[in-house]
Parts: sequence; structure tokens; C-alpha cells
Amino acid sequence: TILVLDFGSQYTHLITRRLRELNVLAELLPCTTKIADLDFKPKGIILSGGPFSVYEEGAPHADPAIFEESYGVPILGICYGLQEIAWRLSPENVIAGTEREYGHADLTPDRHGGDVDRLFDGIEGSMQVYMSHGDRLSQLPQGFCTIATTRNSPFAAIAHKEKAIYGIQAHPEVSHTPRGIELLKNFAVNICGARQHWSMSSFCDQEIARIRALVGPTAQVIGAVSGGVDSTVAAKLMTEAIGDRFHAVLVDNGLMRLNECQQVKETLTEHLGISLTVVDGSKRFLDALKGVEEPERKRKIIGGLFIDIFEEEAIRIEKEAEHTPNAGKVVWFVQGTLYPDVIESISFKGPSATIKTHHNVGGLPERMMNGQGLRLIEPLRELFKDEVRELGRQLGVHRDLVMRHPFPGPGIGVRIIGECTPERVRIAREADHIYINMIREAGLYDEISQAYAGLDTNQAVGVMGDKRYMGYIVILRAVVTTDFMTAEAYPFDMKFLNKVAVRIVNEVEGISLVTYNVTSKPPGTIELQ
Ligand code: XMP
Repeated sequence: TILVLDFGSQYTHLITRRLRELNVLAELLPCTTKIADLDFKPKGIILSGGPFSVYEEGAPHADPAIFEESYGVPILGICYGLQEIAWRLSPENVIAGTEREYGHADLTPDRHGGDVDRLFDGIEGSMQVYMSHGDRLSQLPQGFCTIATTRNSPFAAIAHKEKAIYGIQAHPEVSHTPRGIELLKNFAVNICGARQHWSMSSFCDQEIARIRALVGPTAQVIGAVSGGVDSTVAAKLMTEAIGDRFHAVLVDNGLMRLNECQQVKETLTEHLGISLTVVDGSKRFLDALKGVEEPERKRKIIGGLFIDIFEEEAIRIEKEAEHTPNAGKVVWFVQGTLYPDVIESISFKGPSATIKTHHNVGGLPERMMNGQGLRLIEPLRELFKDEVRELGRQLGVHRDLVMRHPFPGPGIGVRIIGECTPERVRIAREADHIYINMIREAGLYDEISQAYAGLDTNQAVGVMGDKRYMGYIVILRAVVTTDFMTAEAYPFDMKFLNKVAVRIVNEVEGISLVTYNVTSKPPGTIELQ
């Protein structure tokens, strides 16, 4: 295992991600972790970047024990991590830079012969790196030599002459440092001797073992599922770990896709063997949304009611659980949070290291933890979306579910402009069903990142037979994106769109007009509201 100590950089998660790409097992822990508390001895330690200045009061520092000769584990400091190494040896070594260095730089290794060069093994000439730092070394720490320079950084990378301690000012973990992965491999594999035997199946086994140990032999766990990839994979993992002591709850908010609730129920219970309760809240949701047009109010109402219903269900399950033989109290609450959502929560956020546990799912964790006194398990917290998909495949989750487009929590509530009346929900659902099926039949589903049919508030005139009639306007959306922060409209063939329009107008009562939304994000957004 390579231990990555997190000093709060926004890129820290990428270090573990890159190590996993090298099939090297990595464990990410807060920078304040004490070596004596570890239950394993790492093969190497990476000190991440961070937003602080090492010389500031209250700046985070690593346990000095990692530098002890007797511990003898190779260390790589990245950005703040390099400064931490230098500061540890002598605080005068680090000063505020007169020129901040952000963005691309050309880094040229300095060859000395011997082990100090090993970080740059295989790199000929200079390499492009990404820099992001304000502070710099004022002088070389004692016992070190410079192993690379850039135009503005005479000490862009350093190495101890005798011990395996390396520091680099640039960020090898980001994609803007294209050959950075080679440096990480040189460190983890060649210098530390870490084995490259990490795989998703070993992750899966370890995670199951970790969950079993954490939950213990009797406690019970609840978690919400939506039918999406993340919550399904988390639920399947929990079921593998503790069987039916895990209880999944699906709240039908009446705003899911056509027949979706039934399908999710079948898939989770029959195909995946997850113990699931479906709560039909559709009437409560639609009643609460009566007359509500403003999108953020819709979101608040849907989110708030979801928590109320989930909480009621949790209390019911807890009461029932008390009477189950061989099973204990409901102590835990699962959430399928992914790494990009939790970057904040494991970062070092100030003089006292705090591990934040709240995420943005409408305040659910807070209510469950503070109100119900439950503890949070996040089995996917180290993974990225593509890794969750891979884990899902490992766990036997069907491909269609694994590759499913994301679906927002408020469902078609944010795809219907204006009020979500039962009639308008029906129309949007039926149109969406036809559109998505046609996309699937055309073999385009996997090329598109997210697609849906939404509904405008206004009505337009149409003719059917010889009669004029008023019907709603459907707004089709299909986007291609990797990060969902920026997106492009999918370039459908007009013939395909024509066919979709004909089918929707003919088959869905109440629609007179079909449009395709070609706006990119930005300035548009993926959802309509
Ligand atoms: P936008 O519309 O902001 O969507 O471009 C970006 C991504 O976020 C999803 N989204 C939501 N997900 N609750 C959710 O769980 C929401 O209120 C919400 N709004 C947008 C959207 O589906 C897309 O994947």
C-alpha cells in the first residue's frame, strides 16, 4: 500500500486514482494521521499538495515520525508536500515566492547518476508539467540535491542524496502533466517496490470485508436507492457484505420515468437479491406540488418530502428490526456518494482537521445522523463514476443498469417547466418513454450521456384529421459530456428526429409540437429547470 496523506489539495484524489490506474493499492488519509495509529506499514508515503503555506501558524504538518530513519519508508512530497519536507528539516527553507507559478511549465531533469535520478527514470529531455504554487524553496534542505528545474523554479524537484525522499513542485497527478503517471510509477513501483496487483475485484473483496468489520455481527443498515447506478451498486455491495441486515428503501415520488419504479423493484429484488421496500409517495408529492411553478421551490418540496418519507420508513424498519431474531438495531445509514462529491469531506480544512460528513442530497445525512443518531457508511467514496460502473459489473449488476444515464433526484419535476400536474406528468413520461426507446433502438444510447423529453408550459396549435387542437410542446434533450459541467447537444440526424416527432404526436395524447433543444451548456443547462 502507498499511503497518501491529504493536505487538502483539490487534486489529492487524483493521486489515488492514478495509483489505481497503475494497479497499485493506495490509502488516502488525513495529513494529521499518526503513524502509530496505522494498522499497516505502507511501502511508501506521498504527501499531497494543499492550499496552505507551511510557515503559517496553524498550517497542517505530517507526523514527524514518517521522517525518522528507523521508519525507513520512501517519501514523495508534491507541491505543499515538497515544502513540508523542506520545512521539517529547517523552517527557513521555505519562503513566499515573489512570482506565483500557475499553469504549464517545462521541467528539465538534472542528472546526477545514482538513485537520486530514479524519479525521472525513462524521461528523456524535458517534460511538460502543471504548476500551481505561491511558495517556493529559498534554499536546498541539507542533504538534498536538485533533480529538476523549470524557468521559474530552481528547485522544481529535489531528492535526498542518501535516503529515498523526493519532492516535486509540480503536480504529476493531473492530466496537464501528461507523463506524470510515469513519475508516480517510478516512485510507487520502482522506488517503493509496491506491487501492481490492485484490481476492482480485490477492491470489492476488501470493501466487503471492511463493511463487515465496521457493521459487526448484528447491527442493521438502511439506505435509499433510486434505481441509478450509484445507489444500486452501493446497495448490492452492502447486501454482499451483510445480506438482509441491509434494507434498501425506494421512495416513489411520482416523478420517476414511466414504469421505472416497477422495473427497479424487479431488478433489485429478483435479479440482485437486495432486501427492498418501495414506498409509494406519488400522491403526497403531487399534492405538495400543486400550484408550484418555481423550480427551486419544486426542488425544495421534493427534497423535503423525500426526507420525511425516508425517515418515517427508517423508524418503521427500526421498530420491526427490534423483533427480528439474531439482528440488532439499525445503526448505520448508507449513501452512494462518489469521490467527486466528497473531495471536500476528507480534505484538511483548517487548524483542526475536520472530517465533514454532509453531502448535498437535500440534507438527508444530517437528518439521519443528527435526528436519528445513525452513522454514515459510504462504500463508494473513493471511486469515480467509471470505477463504480466497473464495480457494478464485478458485482453482477446488469449492463443496462450500469450504463444508465444519470437521472436527477427531483426526476421529471425539473424537466417539466411550470406546474407538475398529474396530466402533465403523464404526458412528459409517455413522450420520454418513446424517445428513450427510439434512442436505444437506434443504438445511440451509449453515445449520449443524458437524454430526456421535457415539457413546456405553453400550448401550441396542431391539426389532426381536419381538426385544429391545442396541445403541449415537448422539448427533447440529448447531450454529450464527460463531466456534466459542460455539454454539447447530440447531433441527431434530422430523419431520426422527424420519426421521434411523428411517434410522440401520434401516440401521446395532449401533444401538438415537438422541438429539439440544441443549446450547449453553458449557456444552457442539461435539465430544463
Ligand atoms: P444541469 O441541469 O445543472 O445538470 O446542467 C447537471 C447534472 O446534474 C443533474 N441535476 C440534478 N441532480 N438533483 C439531482 O440529483 C437536482 O436537483 C439536479 N439538477 C440537475 C442533471 O440531471 C445533470 O446530470
